[in-house]
Amino acid sequence: MKHPFKFIITLILILSAIANSYAGEGMWLPQLLKLLNEKEMKSMGMKITADDIYSINKGSLKDAIVHFGGFCTSELISAKGLLLTNHHCGYDAIQSHTSVENNLIKNGFWAKSHKDELPNAGLTATFIDYIDDVTALITAGITDDMTAEKRQSIVDKNLSEVKKSYKLESYQEVIIRPFFDGNQYFAFVTTIYKDVRLVGTPPESIGKFGSDTDNWVWPRHTGDFSLFRIYAGKDNKPADYSPDNIPYTPKHFLPVSMDGVSEGDFTMVFGFPGRTNQYLPASAVKQVVNTLNPAKIKIREISLKIMDKYMREDVATKIKYASKYATIANYWKKWIGESQGLQQTYAVNKKLDYEAQFQKRLPQNSPYKTLLTDLDKLYTDIDQYALARDYYGEITLRNVELTAYMGTLKRLVTAYEKNGDKGYFEILGRVKDFSADFYKDFDAKIDHEKLGALLDLYVDKLDEKFVPEYLRRQNLGISDGESYATMVKEQYTLSSFSSETGASEILNLEPSKAVAAIKSDPIYALSSAWSDFYSKEIATPYSNIRKEIDLKLEKYTKAQMEVFKEKRFYPDANSTLRVTYGKVNGYKPRDAVSYEPITYLDGIIAKYIPEDYEFDLQTRMLELYKSRNYGPYADKTGNLPVCFIGSNHTTGGNSGSPAIDAYGNLIGLNFDRVWEGTMSDINYDESICRNIMVDARYILWVVDKYAGASHLITEMKLVYPKTKGKTKKKNSLSPCKYGIFKNQKYNFIVSLIVWAVSI
Ligand code: ARG
Ligand code: GLU
Repeated sequence: MKHPFKFIITLILILSAIANSYAGEGMWLPQLLKLLNEKEMKSMGMKITADDIYSINKGSLKDAIVHFGGFCTSELISAKGLLLTNHHCGYDAIQSHTSVENNLIKNGFWAKSHKDELPNAGLTATFIDYIDDVTALITAGITDDMTAEKRQSIVDKNLSEVKKSYKLESYQEVIIRPFFDGNQYFAFVTTIYKDVRLVGTPPESIGKFGSDTDNWVWPRHTGDFSLFRIYAGKDNKPADYSPDNIPYTPKHFLPVSMDGVSEGDFTMVFGFPGRTNQYLPASAVKQVVNTLNPAKIKIREISLKIMDKYMREDVATKIKYASKYATIANYWKKWIGESQGLQQTYAVNKKLDYEAQFQKRLPQNSPYKTLLTDLDKLYTDIDQYALARDYYGEITLRNVELTAYMGTLKRLVTAYEKNGDKGYFEILGRVKDFSADFYKDFDAKIDHEKLGALLDLYVDKLDEKFVPEYLRRQNLGISDGESYATMVKEQYTLSSFSSETGASEILNLEPSKAVAAIKSDPIYALSSAWSDFYSKEIATPYSNIRKEIDLKLEKYTKAQMEVFKEKRFYPDANSTLRVTYGKVNGYKPRDAVSYEPITYLDGIIAKYIPEDYEFDLQTRMLELYKSRNYGPYADKTGNLPVCFIGSNHTTGGNSGSPAIDAYGNLIGLNFDRVWEGTMSDINYDESICRNIMVDARYILWVVDKYAGASHLITEMKLVYPKTKGKTKKKNSLSPCKYGIFKNQKYNFIVSLIVWAVSI
């Protein structure tokens, strides 16, 4: 051999690289970290213990992690209940306090004192008190040969009994969720605070910088954060809103690190990921890519175009629709990225290979032999129902608002028909509250334009058997090929519910008259006929097949765990508390392109487009940049970091989750994933899946230097470099970077030899 040294070095490097590709994948249960993950986390650099992360006997990190409104995550960062979350998580609240005269979205908002903090009716902050494994109790009485229906009825009965067995305080709740597709059940006892007030938000030119163009994309420069505060009764327990409530004193809050991050640093994200589907069969993935995603993307594209047109014309409309538009746009873009990613990473083929392996490994007499072919058939059977279901849900519930509102009226009508005046008055108050909220941000012309265009799509794209008689063109006097737009517009003009005045006139009538008026309203009639048809012709057959699929998926997940013993399984996300960990890490999105893991304020300025809808900046930002007024928040090179990425496995719901360093300090705020990695809910690939976080120092800088809200900084606990004096070598072969052993000491020695030999 000519160059034995070179060969050895290459071999060591290859081995090291393989060993160094630690698992970024996985959303782990905090109570099982000690058993499953602690060792690996420590080998990756973590300095605290699993017990410091989750303990029911002492204050731990979990006491600082709060489910925000049930849809996002947030964390406590002061002894006075100060809560950090994303700007887009607080957006609904921010929008609700915004008017043309007092434009919090545009100008930002910073409460000067506690009494200026803004209450938000309905917004909750939920803590996890403890978690129990209740699998044995929930699955008691179930056998393998049961039908889906029988099984479900036993589970439901057990669920309600186990729930009842918990002795709870009035402010506590117990939530029981299935894991591994129903193979395991955990109960979460929670405490829910109901007085959560807005403390501060940057202007949208920071909090939403880059808006939809930059959404789901790296490199990113969004300061996506906002601040809230939890208020409690005098006893520090949850209480309904009252001006007398006091700031909540937490069991634990996160200190904020001033240390900053570098490539390779350990990171952990702690929060409430919403939903993932890692263990699906290929047939289900095919359905997402070929059938469901394209349909939903098209529907939302039409809806977004209509809103955008009117929002750009008028500030008041922009404010009204800001939050709704962002919500619809978010998943529209996510599905585009997801489909692309699944195709580009050959996710279906990968699944097929995996399934072939699975099949090969099954013993001759395995009860799972036909599982995959059964599932294939069931996914084929459900395909058109699933499509029709998505069409109906997307159009009538998530994009057109008046049809969704009719669902609320339907409950009122049903209450009256079942229980007369008494039933009616029982829910009228709630309907009126809901209506007030609804009409505040409703514009009938946008809405009828959406319904017209989306009805065209529904009728033209779906099989005729999914179109109710009531909606067929011939029955509405619309000629073939003609749009529904004119008809829908007329119906909106005739409907009392196109305006708040019309609606409240009806809701103030006596019950029998109100119900008669509602039932004869043209939009109510249309929605109600459509919804009855839907539940009979679409939802029922769908859920009959779905039950069978769920039963098979439960078995398939169990079978995968039995067959692939060497694989480490983690449960799919289901809006319960999880820990995911990785490292600060760039990535290569495609050939010859490589992304750095950190962005800087310079990058914001480079993206700046004066007067632009998405990339405009306020003068203050430009001034601070010019004077380089970064205070203590710049990094060692004197630049102000803005965002960074890491290999933490996150999903929707993880927004607002803290990024935590090796010592348990806050280093960033999770808010997004990179474009190539949006498919990670279905097909995680650690070479390209990265989560995006705002750097804690940028948050501090905005609060302190940009907004001048230094009183909030004083409230926090800033921790200064623990790693002082540690100089990171630029040399890529610097000690510790390469590791074939779990123990860093040996890696250090190996790296040292490699490094010495290579120079
Ligand atoms: N993509 C992030 C998430 O899923 C951020 C969304 C912010 N919304 C937006 N339309 N830009 O929540
Ligand atoms: N922005 C997402 C959220 O609202 C987080 C990004 C993701 O889906 O990973 O939770």
